[in-house]
Amino acid sequence: MLELLRVSVSKRAAVSVHLGQRLPAVRANPAQIRQVVMNLITNASEAIGDQDGVIRITTGVVKAGKDTVPGLKALGAGGYVQLKVSDTGPGIAPEVQTRVFDPFFTTKATGHGLGLTVVQGIVGNLSGTIRISSRPGTGTTVRVLLPCTKREASITRPACRDEDHESQFPQPTILIVEDEDLLRQAVSKVLGKKGYSVIEAKDGSVALAVIGDPQKLVNVILLDLTLPGISSRQVLEEAKRLRPQMKAIVTSAYTEQMAADLLIRRFDGFIRKPYQVAELMELVRRTLSA
Ligand SMILES: Nc1ncnc2c1ncn2[C@@H]1O[C@H](COP(=O)(O)OP(=O)(O)OP(=O)(O)O)[C@@H](O)[C@H]1O
Ligand SMILES: [Mg+2]
Repeated sequence: MLELLRVSVSKRAAVSVHLGQRLPAVRANPAQIRQVVMNLITNASEAIGDQDGVIRITTGVVKAGKDTVPGLKALGAGGYVQLKVSDTGPGIAPEVQTRVFDPFFTTKATGHGLGLTVVQGIVGNLSGTIRISSRPGTGTTVRVLLPCTKREASITRPACRDEDHESQFPQPTILIVEDEDLLRQAVSKVLGKKGYSVIEAKDGSVALAVIGDPQKLVNVILLDLTLPGISSRQVLEEAKRLRPQMKAIVTSAYTEQMAADLLIRRFDGFIRKPYQVAELMELVRRTLSA
């Protein structure tokens, strides 16, 4: 991972890494943590650009109510593993800072504006929290706090191996394309708890941007048939064209036959709404191993 980081950052940026010893485990899988770290470090590197600068990556433990973490309001009690990525780039203007988590918000010519959206989604799924502190001219610090489990983190295996978690490794990434907020968030939370790395898209245009982003490799797309704006047919078409390996599971209150009639491309699985989470989990597992 460290080698990957060093080749991903700007040549002018010095990377200094300070990893806490014997960190407690968090309920996350390596793919989720990799997505978070890579997106934050890519942003830090892009902020430094072709100037000289430093990216500082620190991990440690923070106890809610004991250590003070600037800008973090009422954390639930208990211990948190903190990942802190600081850069000496130009910082973020206050009016930009309020928008950095918005899907598609970018100030970069080639940005997709999805990095922090994805990070926020993953951190939220893990019941963690993310805060950015920055002042123009003084650089930026991003803190991610994830609640600890009681165990010590293991380096060679996923941190959490209780019966609530899948035992596959590495864990696949699932893109959930669903416009009903509550359903999308609920499914995302359950899949996240099962150890999958989850990316949420509330409509077809967010889905297309994720599918087209080479940094976000999606193994399975869970696609709602009736989407506002860009249609599920277009999303499936693009998904199969750009990522032929990606599996597609279609979901709808309509029948599978109606879905097949509406979508030109073949899909790999179908689940009719309303469905039980256990049925979805089983279908995801079967589709991935097919
Ligand atoms: N470390 C940082 N320093 C300065 N600005 C930042 C930093 N991190 C994020 N930003 C601002 O937040 C915006 C959104 O970041 P985000 O990672 O979501 O998208 P992006 O980097 O523009 O595109 P991508 O989808 O490729 O990540 C950036 O365009 C930038 O303006
Ligand atoms: Mg980014």
